[in-house]
Amino acid sequence: MFKSDNILIVGLGLIGGSLAAALRRAGHYQVWGYDRDADSMAQAVRDGVIDIAQQDLHAAVASADVVVLAVPVKAMESLIEELAPYLRAETLLTDVGSVKGNVVAAAYRVFGTPPGGFVPGHPIAGSERSGIGAVNIDLFVEHKFIITPLPESDPQAVAVLAKIWTDAGSDILTMDVARHDAVLAATSHLPHILAFSLVDTLASDAENKDIFRYAAGGFRDFTRVSGSDPVMWHDVFITNRDACLKTLDQFTEGLNVMRQAIVDGDSQTMLGIMTRARVARHHFEKILAGTAYTEEDMSSKTNFDVAPGGQVQGRIRVPGDKSISHRSIMLGALAQGTTHISGFLEGEDALATLQAFRDMGVVIEGPVDGKVTVHGVGLHGLQAPPGPLYVGNSGTTIRLLSGLMAGQQFDVEISGDVSLNKRPMGRVANPLRAMGAKVETGDGGTPPLKIFGGQQLNGINYQLPMASAQVKSCVLLAGLYAQGETKVTEPAPTRDHTERMLNGFGYQVAGMAPTRSLVGGGQLTATDIDVPSDISSATFFLVAAAITPGSDLLIEHVGMNPTRVGVINILRLMGADLEVSNPRDVGGEPVADLHIRYAPLKGIHVPEEQVALGIDEFPALMIAAACAEGTTVVTGAEELRVKESDRIQSMVDGLITLGIDIEGTPDGAIIQGKSGQSSVFGGGEIVTHHDHRIAMSFTLAGLRASAPIKVLDCAHVATSFPGFVELATSVGMQVTSVEE
Ligand code: S3P
Repeated sequence: MFKSDNILIVGLGLIGGSLAAALRRAGHYQVWGYDRDADSMAQAVRDGVIDIAQQDLHAAVASADVVVLAVPVKAMESLIEELAPYLRAETLLTDVGSVKGNVVAAAYRVFGTPPGGFVPGHPIAGSERSGIGAVNIDLFVEHKFIITPLPESDPQAVAVLAKIWTDAGSDILTMDVARHDAVLAATSHLPHILAFSLVDTLASDAENKDIFRYAAGGFRDFTRVSGSDPVMWHDVFITNRDACLKTLDQFTEGLNVMRQAIVDGDSQTMLGIMTRARVARHHFEKILAGTAYTEEDMSSKTNFDVAPGGQVQGRIRVPGDKSISHRSIMLGALAQGTTHISGFLEGEDALATLQAFRDMGVVIEGPVDGKVTVHGVGLHGLQAPPGPLYVGNSGTTIRLLSGLMAGQQFDVEISGDVSLNKRPMGRVANPLRAMGAKVETGDGGTPPLKIFGGQQLNGINYQLPMASAQVKSCVLLAGLYAQGETKVTEPAPTRDHTERMLNGFGYQVAGMAPTRSLVGGGQLTATDIDVPSDISSATFFLVAAAITPGSDLLIEHVGMNPTRVGVINILRLMGADLEVSNPRDVGGEPVADLHIRYAPLKGIHVPEEQVALGIDEFPALMIAAACAEGTTVVTGAEELRVKESDRIQSMVDGLITLGIDIEGTPDGAIIQGKSGQSSVFGGGEIVTHHDHRIAMSFTLAGLRASAPIKVLDCAHVATSFPGFVELATSVGMQVTSVEE
């Protein structure tokens, strides 16, 4: 049975001393210290870092419950040998070394089979300062502690060690020894090698004696760690030799590429390195701040608190169109030349597309204020990504990308977040297979998608089984790489941004809806793209104004592609006072301003031919239906069941919570409107299933509610509509985003 009543820390430097101090603060440990430097020990007692200074190391080891070796990593080896005879079967022996391989090897040498109480570990924390004077009681708070247990380590000893470091404030991780040493070589040892070497090189340059006088923040930030303890780092580099050399060689290779790019004035390569590095560094900052967009469910802790009432007044512009933003990156990347995009949607979905192409070697500058510059690599210029492509919540990315990937020479795997990983991908895998692609899906036809490169694609004549622009686009994009003609016929008109944009990039898409075709083997030529505002995002404000007495709202520069205007047609049929003004054409896409004022709405049977033209708008339209006079019937909308959530079910459940009489059907819903009453909705808590459009739709209900509405799990609103809460508040809606 391993205990931790007495903890002996051997070596009272920065790490050992800080651990001692943190454990004393925890209150329930007797902290003993030993250091061969008597002054350090005396200071540790004086400063209250340890309870008791132990003069006889061997005796102390013999009676301690836990022995923590906190000496430079090279010294660990002889120390383990020296202390082995004094350990008891129930002594927990651990260390804090930055390298684990040599410590573990020493343990095998000394013990043959290491005892169950030997559990190596490493706190990922430190400072360039050293010695007992540098002790920082908070050094480990919210830092990782990596345990590298051996097959021989006793699980109970591992648990005791984890508890000790949790008490010191750390988050516990487990890794195997070799991986630990490889990871640390890259993330910690290499930066130290570089910093020591850089400062020494500059300092020994006789001609530049005074150079440090002119150095500022960049130099200071880059070289801070060169002030660290030389003996400690000497030991790290020696004991982790192979992993350090491997990562140093990789770095040298990268540095040579940068050097050559500077020699050649090769801006594309230089910008590629720097834009990728910049994004990676921002991502790292987000990880540090705990706000990274990760594979786990994106922070499920953002709720919207919606107060009853509010107004909808003003003149606004909503963010760029999501569908067009995705396609602008894809076609820009595959074009010859440089594409300049403005109005790009900086939401997580479109950013996932952008990142996927960066991962495949495309140099993309921005986005900065909606401006993006894509340095096209041509249809055959993509490179194999370093690992699986992660596309978050974005159905458009995975489906369109799969078409493009089918035509490459390399293999790729594409996966997404919890929601995306439940969505159907057979709808793209099947036609791609018919074209000759080799595609594997996960169980039940869901992601991850594995697409194997080097296959010869052939054009097909494909009748889409469902009205889906994503499937249509996937097949057309694969057709760029296919031999002969690829033809698609859709059962109902769906958004045609892919076809329009291909034409804009000089690639001819022939025919008229419902049948469009293209011939593979051509080339895309870069162009400039001005992305209009997203009519799907504008919808939330159109419905807000349509249901709120006294409202008067102008929404500028909204994309009015005829395959997207279902919401306008449906709201007008319901009696909305909606004017379309200033129609114009922006780079092949029609755009207009929308002026909407309150008018009483009436229930309708939504014409089925409008469904595909407004498919993403149904959650918000169902809110409008609840405020209308009479019954609204939606049919032919079974696609709603396979969106970011089952949107029919999500809306039925939420509206019932708010007191609305609604019935879900396999392909739609029947909603009884409650017009004539100032409050249509009651209050309550809404489950969004992390679906952005469900979250925003229920926010609108607050405008006609009698009590507060709490909309749960709204973080995914950032996938399509960054700044939604701010814009909603600016027109008079009463919504607050609350982090839990
Ligand atoms: C999209 C097409 C639609 C839509 C989605 C975006 C696109 O999906 O719901 O938000 O950009 O092509 P389906 O094509 O699956 O209907």
